[in-house]
Amino acid sequence: MRLVATRRAAGLQLAQDVWDGRPSSVPLVRAGAKLTPEWSEALLSAGVHAVFIEDELSKGIEVEPALSASVRAEAQRGISQAFKAAPAALERGEPLGDQALGQLESVARLIAEQVSRARDAVVAFSDLGCADAYTLQHSINVTVIGLLVARRLFNDIGRLDGLSRRSFERVDDAIVRLGVGLLLHDIGKLALPKQLLERNGPLDAEEWELMRQHTLWGYGLVSQSRLISYHGKAVIRSHHERWDGSGYPDGLARERIPEFARIAAVADVYDAITSERHHQRAASHAAGHATIVAGSGTQFDPQVVDAFRRVIAPYPPGTEVALRDGRRALVVSVPETSLHRPEVRIFAARDGEPIEPVDVQLAERPELSIAPAAPVALAGTAYAA
Ligand SMILES: [Fe+2]
Repeated sequence: MRLVATRRAAGLQLAQDVWDGRPSSVPLVRAGAKLTPEWSEALLSAGVHAVFIEDELSKGIEVEPALSASVRAEAQRGISQAFKAAPAALERGEPLGDQALGQLESVARLIAEQVSRARDAVVAFSDLGCADAYTLQHSINVTVIGLLVARRLFNDIGRLDGLSRRSFERVDDAIVRLGVGLLLHDIGKLALPKQLLERNGPLDAEEWELMRQHTLWGYGLVSQSRLISYHGKAVIRSHHERWDGSGYPDGLARERIPEFARIAAVADVYDAITSERHHQRAASHAAGHATIVAGSGTQFDPQVVDAFRRVIAPYPPGTEVALRDGRRALVVSVPETSLHRPEVRIFAARDGEPIEPVDVQLAERPELSIAPAAPVALAGTAYAA
């Protein structure tokens, strides 16, 4: 299977169900269906700008979802409880009760289990969603990315314990606590007016001020809860802090930012860039990857970025890439030892003319490489929100 732009997918056969991303919803279109022009129009207006299709060229290319459908559905149900209770609690200025938060630890544990079984390079985010269900799906994706990065980081150098020492003990517990924080990281956004979240243009100064409050509102919802750990709360409050001190709400820098929040910052920005949103189309995984790497040491903790580079493949299977020599190719598979030089199927010449497809292991062909993607500009954009 391979990923194509929805507007070019009419007449092609869908490889996966397309979901609108809300809990307990049914697929918009089922796998196996041939997309009619009307259906691709309908998907576009629902904010689905790319779909996985099955065709001759992509035969044998498999794309594993980051989470199984059942775990994703379970996660959606667990978070929805907290999300549903949040607006009323925010309005009354009350914290969230145990009932709203009770499911989250088991959801975080489920996701952590799947992540721990995942082959490192497997992360191909094939779970494409609609812009409408953004906050919910984004929370789940950020959890998966954050836990993958954390597992790598904690296994390599240990986690920071309460005395700021690196430790390899109780890493699994730390991962679950981080997962709960990641699931809830944007919960304060539920206090924002819908028009602001779905805005199709830059925010003015006043709206920015409001947007920035989501970290503090979210923190206020959980700060009293005994179900959320100290570090989980830190994720909610501090995921917009930046390594160089330019973030919010407290302007913390470097090691003063809790480590869980430094991991959350990378996962949050990467998923925001590579997801469909109301105000912006998804950028490629390669562009998302380049943005995180470019922000190492300024926006992001360099150690977290190092771990990220080793677990998140910039060119996931089923996506199209351009080689430096101008030829076009599909990514076939990503060897764990060679995330940046995957196996590709070259299918078009420099001038765009189709050629007889040929599979090439880039890891064994040093003279060939993929043309690098440019990073996305972060400053002053909605990615910062
Ligand atoms: Fe946020």
